[in-house]
Amino acid sequence: MTRAWSPESWRELPAAQQPDWGDPGALDLALKELRNQPPLVFAGEARALKAALGAASRGEAFVLQAGECAESFDNLSADSIRDQLKIILQMAVVLTYASGLPIVKVGRIAGQFAKPRSSANELVGGLELPAFRGHMVNDIDFDPVSRRANPKRLLRAYHQSASTLNLLRAFTKGGFADLNKVHMWNQEFVAASPQGRRYEDIANAIDRALRFMAACGINLTSDVSLHQVDFYTCHEALILGFEEALTRQDSLTGDWYDCSAHLLWAGERTRQAGGAHIEFLSGLKNPVACKLGPKATPAEVLELCERLDPDGEAGRLTFIARMGAKAVREALPPLVRAIRDSGRPVLWVCDPMHGNTFTTAAGVKTRRFEDIVAEIKGFFAVHELEGTFPGGVHLELTADEVTECLGGGDDILDNQLVASYRSLCDPRLNGNQSLELAFELGELLQAWAAPVRSE
Ligand code: PEP
Ligand code: CO
Repeated sequence: MTRAWSPESWRELPAAQQPDWGDPGALDLALKELRNQPPLVFAGEARALKAALGAASRGEAFVLQAGECAESFDNLSADSIRDQLKIILQMAVVLTYASGLPIVKVGRIAGQFAKPRSSANELVGGLELPAFRGHMVNDIDFDPVSRRANPKRLLRAYHQSASTLNLLRAFTKGGFADLNKVHMWNQEFVAASPQGRRYEDIANAIDRALRFMAACGINLTSDVSLHQVDFYTCHEALILGFEEALTRQDSLTGDWYDCSAHLLWAGERTRQAGGAHIEFLSGLKNPVACKLGPKATPAEVLELCERLDPDGEAGRLTFIARMGAKAVREALPPLVRAIRDSGRPVLWVCDPMHGNTFTTAAGVKTRRFEDIVAEIKGFFAVHELEGTFPGGVHLELTADEVTECLGGGDDILDNQLVASYRSLCDPRLNGNQSLELAFELGELLQAWAAPVRSE
């Protein structure tokens, strides 16, 4: 059966995880206003990301997809955007330096405002209220007014995404991401740590390499790749009315692009091949991704390929495996083999966060740094065994000095989690843990890229 795709064809199918917006008039009004807003990203940029992801699917690049679990309306500042960019740039430097591979940088930023939930409601002390679904939908405080879904939030999410993206464009194209500024990306509290000092060694080596090239007569000022960075945005395409309203027809090609971000993904809870989310993503020309948990089967994964990438276009489809450290070595191989044997050019990315979340005895949601590292190691080992490419990682992190994940060099303990737990949703790696993870990952990448290069 072929259904004619249109930006609204998802409406004919079951759509999981959609809030009850209450007043339909208010929702229609908000969506109408959204449809009149300018696009946030452009089709040409989405095509450039698709090409970069295609290179990663062939082992010629590595993807660093990272940022917030849930962005906040209460935390919009130039400093927070700059710091988030800094830590991603720092990690990318570490990875490039270790592996010699280009790093494709994709932020969970400028649009990551909606969350899927395991239950629609939350029960506290006998009171039952709708669950918090991200600032695009409602607010986190546990009272009836905060938890009511408010369509005006869709517009606020759009406007915050626009100002965030505006600053990201200025930072990445206007000098801040210049390779001569590598030292500036080291945050003060990170700089004093062992990984901060290790980063300084790399930054010094880069300085020396730049001076060496300049001394050899190479004109370093004219090469934009030393002074600017391509930085892409992504988020989970969860609230389909919002995504539909930002889907526009490209004037050059006539194709449809969701202009809310460069890359959109379907989450573990919304990836049903016959559901509304996959229908929506199927007709876009953006690169798209799909999360896969440990229960995903080879048949499901092949069906998702058929729905999302029937033409087998490199860079179009990314599978983000989030299996958990314990399950990855058993659950991932059958899926990787099915794709490999089908000859499809899918990109494999490892999300070592969402399969490793647990709640402590004191009721705090957390993840262990060692589990995160273990899942990444398992992911690399599976690809090595199957002769396929470990194409990237997908992380939840902040540059801030938070205490949300256990372990790492600072060895954050159970009883320290409450000291600075600021996430609206899932626990994030802090600046130190993120940089430490980049060094671990750099070693894995170095070991992996060296034989590939010498072939
Ligand atoms: C997320 O990426 O924040 C998320 C909810 O992931 P998943 O769909 O994999 O559970
Ligand atoms: Co999350």
